[in-house]
Amino acid sequence: MLMISGVVRPVEKTEKSIYSPDDNPIATLMPGPGGEVTNVNCAICHSTDYIVRQPGSDAKYWEAEVRKVVAVFGAPTCDADVQVIVDYLSSAYGPQAKTDLLPLRRQPVRPSRIKRQNP
Ligand code: HEC
Repeated sequence: MLMISGVVRPVEKTEKSIYSPDDNPIATLMPGPGGEVTNVNCAICHSTDYIVRQPGSDAKYWEAEVRKVVAVFGAPTCDADVQVIVDYLSSAYGPQAKTDLLPLRRQPVRPSRIKRQNP
């Protein structure tokens, strides 16, 4: 017969908190109705940089984007919040949105500007 002896200790549950650094200032979402819901839902996995650097787009585009992050990437956003977020994004980052972030987009590198190190 197999005998197992030992003391079984109850597993202690301890809460841990993690610190996440502030996002960069460019990523800060524009104020507006639904902005806070968007921030809470859309800054879980990545910076809101991903939002502010998109070209301004209509509700159809933003709805497809939000539904994709929910269905494909597993964002835990409920249907009611999807609508609030789409309304917010298509108004704050709609087709008329100021695209003064354009200079920050990565420009293609022209081969003529690459300095060869080992000629
Ligand atoms: C569960 C994690 C998660 C959450 C929550 C999340 N995303 Fe994402 N998102 C991703 C991943 C993964 C990518 C792709 C990253 C890559 O390709 O580098 C991405 C990429 C993006 C992009 C870049 C374009 C693209 O399609 O790749 C945008 C815009 C975006 N997300 C918007 C949002 C919005 C809006 C929300 C809130 C509704 C959100 N994300 C919430 C995981 C998430």
